[in-house]
Order: sequence, then structure tokens, then C-alpha cells
Amino acid sequence: MSVLSVQGLTVSTVDRTLVREVSFTLARGERLGLIGESGSGKSLTAAAVLGLLPEGVSASGSVRLSGVDGDLLRLRERELARVRGRRLAMVFQEPMTALNPAMRVGRQVAEAMTLHRTRTRRAARAAAVELLDQVRLPDPAVTARAYPHELSGGQRQRVLLAMALANDPDVLICDEPTTALDVTVQAKLLALIRTATEERGTALLFITHDLAVVADMCERVLVMHGGRVVDSGTLPGLFTAPAHPYTAGLLAASDLESLDEHGRLRTIQWTADE
Ligand SMILES: Nc1ncnc2c1ncn2[C@@H]1O[C@H](COP(=O)(O)OP(=O)(O)OP(=O)(O)O)[C@@H](O)[C@H]1O
Ligand SMILES: [Mg+2]
Repeated sequence: MSVLSVQGLTVSTVDRTLVREVSFTLARGERLGLIGESGSGKSLTAAAVLGLLPEGVSASGSVRLSGVDGDLLRLRERELARVRGRRLAMVFQEPMTALNPAMRVGRQVAEAMTLHRTRTRRAARAAAVELLDQVRLPDPAVTARAYPHELSGGQRQRVLLAMALANDPDVLICDEPTTALDVTVQAKLLALIRTATEERGTALLFITHDLAVVADMCERVLVMHGGRVVDSGTLPGLFTAPAHPYTAGLLAASDLESLDEHGRLRTIQWTADE
């Protein structure tokens, strides 16, 4: 039984199709990777699922979440806001933009909970400290009183993860959650995302350009290129014996020299007509 089912998702502006006919399902507790070079449509796919597309960009197709009546793409913003955060949550690449710089982090985690549940403020604050502890932040009661700028990048990402997990979502979407972090901090955060989702049975859609990370995190992978899913399969098979030329190219290019200055994969020469 799938918790999330995306069928024929197409994302476009008035004059350009940016994501074309993307379909996939996600089972409860499953970890699915979404990989592909810069500009292949990974973030727009996630944004469309969450109903967070930028101005002037629209989606067609269908996005269904188990237990929610109707198509998420057709829900009103008010109904969608209720689903987002409670059933579907997201961790973005840059935590500074997702956190309120003027509010103590404990309060932000508490508000993420009270927004969707009836809890007293006091109970929400205690639960927020408990969550900060679960994401292994040192001294959670003290950290709860800190402002985002007083924390390191890795700590801020843990706060965002705590907020995303606050309402026990069915699906967690992570878009390059660790690219801004150094390698050891990254490894710890990835391990935390794995255990936290495993313990809760949360399904994970994990976006990354890093094939080593996806191999470590995910059971199944979708490969995007030019707005389409060009390959998919389970791991490690998809990487050890890539059948598709684009996936083989990605693997061949996945040494450090082939990453651009932003740590992203360079464009691979391959066209669908081959
Ligand atoms: N608001 C927008 N208006 C028009 N085009 C956009 C908009 N946002 C993204 N695009 C285009 O859509 C395509 C897919 O973008 P997307 O951000 O999904 O790529 P991505 O796979 O996440 O890349 P990256 O690895 O760099 O994060 C790109 O060609 C991008 O230029
Ligand atoms: Mg992106």
C-alpha cells in the first residue's frame, strides 16, 4: 500500500515544460532517492508534491496521499496547508531561509506542533525540548532558547528536522539537506534522518546529486534528466549494473572532478533520442 502516489506530474510555465510526466509511488517507510544533474527538475518535482511551486509555475497530473480525499494538486490552499506539515513535511537545503531568525528555535518547533494539534503552549514547549533531544542536539533545554544564528549549520539542520518530524508526518521530503555541511556533520545528519524515519515508519523522498549518499540512504532511485524520469530501479543493482546510458554516465562522472563549484553534477551529454 502506497502512502504517496504521483502520476503523470507535469510542471510548466506559460511557455516551458519543466517537469514532464513524472510518476512514482512511495510505500510506508520506504526510502526513495531522486537524483540527476543540476536543472533536471528534482526540486520542482518536490515543490509540486508539496504545493509550493513558485509564482507563474503550475502543475498537472495527480498527487495522492493515503487518508486524504482527493488530489493534492486540486486542494484549496487552506486544505493543503493542513496536509503540509502534518502528513507531508520537508527539509530544505538552506536552513537559514526556512527558520525565523528572530524567534528562539524551541518556540519555532513548538509552533510547528501547535499549528496542527490542540496542545497547550506549555505542553508544546516541553515536547519541543524532547524533540530537540531526539535529533541529538546537545543540551536541548538550553538550545531551545537559542536563536538560529547562534547555532551551527548542522545544528540548524537538526532543528529543521525536528520541526519536520514534529507532527509525525507520513512522508518526509529532503531536498539536498546536507550539501551545505562538512563531511562529518553531513554523515551524522544522514544517519539521524535514517534512524528517525525508520523508527517512525516515515516514507522518505530524498533528493541529492551525491550518488554515494543516495546509495547509503535509499532502497530505490529515480533518475531525472531534462525534466523526465529516464531510469529507475532498486539499489545496489541500479548502480552496480546500470542498464541505462544516462545512469551509467552519471556514475562515470560521479568523482569529485566532475562536480561543479557548487558541488553539483555537471551536465552529461545524452539525449532521449539515442
Ligand atoms: N520559477 C521558475 N520559473 C521558471 N523556470 C524555473 C523556475 N524554477 C526552476 N526553473 C527551471 O526548471 C528546471 C528544473 O529546476 P529544478 O530547480 O527543479 O532543478 P534541480 O534538479 O532541483 O537542480 P539542482 O540540482 O540545481 O537543485 C531548471 O531548468 C530551472 O531553470
Ligand atoms: Mg534543486
